[in-house]
Order: sequence, then C-alpha cells, then structure tokens
Amino acid sequence: MQNIVLVGPMGAGKSTIGRGLAGLLRRAFHDTDDEIRKRTGVDIPTIFEYEGEEGFRQRETAVLDSLLEKDGIILATGGGIVERPENRERLKDAFVIYLRVPVEEQFRRTRRSRNRPLLTQSEDPRARLQALFERRDPLYQQVADMVLEGRGRRVRDAVNGVCSAL
Ligand code: S3P
Repeated sequence: MQNIVLVGPMGAGKSTIGRGLAGLLRRAFHDTDDEIRKRTGVDIPTIFEYEGEEGFRQRETAVLDSLLEKDGIILATGGGIVERPENRERLKDAFVIYLRVPVEEQFRRTRRSRNRPLLTQSEDPRARLQALFERRDPLYQQVADMVLEGRGRRVRDAVNGVCSAL
C-alpha cells in the first residue's frame, strides 16, 4: 500500500490532518519531527542550538528514509522537508498531499509557538514565513500529487476531501 505524506509550511495543520486521516483510514500515523525527538531524546530547538540547521536536516533525511521504508503509513513532515533534492526524490514513491495555506494564516497559527527555531530566532517571523513560502511553494507543488488549499479549513472537510480523492 502506498504511503501518504503531508507536506506544507509550518502551521499548515499537517499533524492534525494527518492524525485525522490515519484514524479514518485505519493506518499508522508518523511525524518526522516526533521521530527526531524520539531518537535524540531532545526537542527540535535543542538540535538547532547544538548542531545547527544542517545537523537537523541530516537527521530529518535519515528519519524520512527510514519511515518511508514502512508500508501504508500516513506521514506528516517538517516544513523544510522539500529543501533537499534527495528528499524530494524519495517522496516520488508516496502519495503526497500539499496543505497550502496563506502566509497570514501560517503566522496566526505559529505566533505563540516556542519550538520552531526558524521563527523564534527571527526578528520578523512574518517576513521569514513569507520568504520561506516564496522559496518552498514551487518545491511543494513539484512533489505534490494533490494540493489542498485553504485558510482555516475544517479538519473534517480536509480529511473527507483527501479520502474522496484517493
Ligand atoms: C521547519 C519546520 C518544523 C521543524 C523545524 C524546521 C521548517 O516543522 O521541522 O522547526 O524548516 O519549516 P513544522 O512544519 O511541523 O512546524
């Protein structure tokens, strides 16, 4: 059975929608950030602090590779998963859903978050989200089999939309 992978920016709702999908389809749910936390025993900001973004990206690629060895899972990924060409290549075997939400909505949903170092280390998180979106939106589009658009879209609607498209 094909793996289903959710991609998209921080605050797009990948984990929430992924969990909903997994429940409905009775599939196992995984999350690359959770897996990194599990393997290292520390949180994401700590990894950025000690190993930098590059160290984090290496761990992320290793985790993606091993989770995609599984069969028929639902996988939520970190917003930067599309940055590395080898990750994009790896995603070709999966059914990839891009959760595309406006930058304003991303900002609203991540404003109070303390565990997203790319935003907490930035003087202007909204501008940072905008710049990331401009760079990554074409990359998300490139790997996506399906694009789910929408601001504040209800989880149930999103999950039903995906299920009927599968
Ligand atoms: C990142 C997104 C985060 C996390 C890390 C880097 C990014 O995941 O992987 O902080 O580069 O956009 P979420 O998209 O789940 O917030």
